[in-house]
Amino acid sequence: MASLGVNIDHIANVRQARRTTEPDPVTYALLAELGGADGITVHLREDRRHIQDRDVELLRHTVRSRLNLEMAATPAMEAIALRIRPDMVTLVPERREEVTTEGGLDVASQVEVLGGMVERLQRAGIGVSLFVDPDSRQLDACASTGARWVELHTGAYAEADWSGQHRQLARLTEASAIARSLDLRVNAGHGLTYRNVEPIAAIEGMEELNIGHTIVARALAVGLQAAVSEMKALIQNPRRDPLFGSRQP
Ligand code: PXP
Repeated sequence: MASLGVNIDHIANVRQARRTTEPDPVTYALLAELGGADGITVHLREDRRHIQDRDVELLRHTVRSRLNLEMAATPAMEAIALRIRPDMVTLVPERREEVTTEGGLDVASQVEVLGGMVERLQRAGIGVSLFVDPDSRQLDACASTGARWVELHTGAYAEADWSGQHRQLARLTEASAIARSLDLRVNAGHGLTYRNVEPIAAIEGMEELNIGHTIVARALAVGLQAAVSEMKALIQNPRRDPLFGSRQP
């Protein structure tokens, strides 16, 4: 059964819209845990557009589940991770002009550099996950870095129309099998919603889904704790084909 990592970047987005002190993502992390989050994920971006260093430092002390720090693979971010020691680091590509993380990390073109970073982080007791597209060449490269986890990018699945979603789901299912054959543990995320999450949660070997935007959006109506509980219920007992079954031609 997949577990749920709740990404709380958007809580910080609301705070940063006014550069004030509320809402505080540290408080909301606790509510997410009360709703059943198995982990809290934050992305400390180079431009600090939402999560701030102070948030990660406080979350390290307050999170009782697992703290997953998403970050770019840069020496400055590595130093922060080694100082704060989250339970997991997820390395992601980062471009200043993007609205959110767009593609997966190109691990294949930088195995050596990433391998060094993975080694130093893992030696410090931090798990490392690499956020990649569901592509066998990238997965082979991930295994070569020595990382123990991959996070499969579900953006193409989330954005596809319903016939394309079949194809993207098949890609993700195959990628999960390839990753596990390479001894990599498998997480996934990006663009998942209450409507499209179930087939992803049902993929064999799926360990954790990282979900942010849809949960924070739902929280506006029902509160964060309830929004997390609703998502957790879906991924704990997913229907394999909830989107596609009734719409077959
Ligand atoms: N996983 C990664 C690596 C991400 O960069 C993001 C977005 O910050 C997510 C998961 C969560 O995506 P969403 O907010 O679309 O659920």
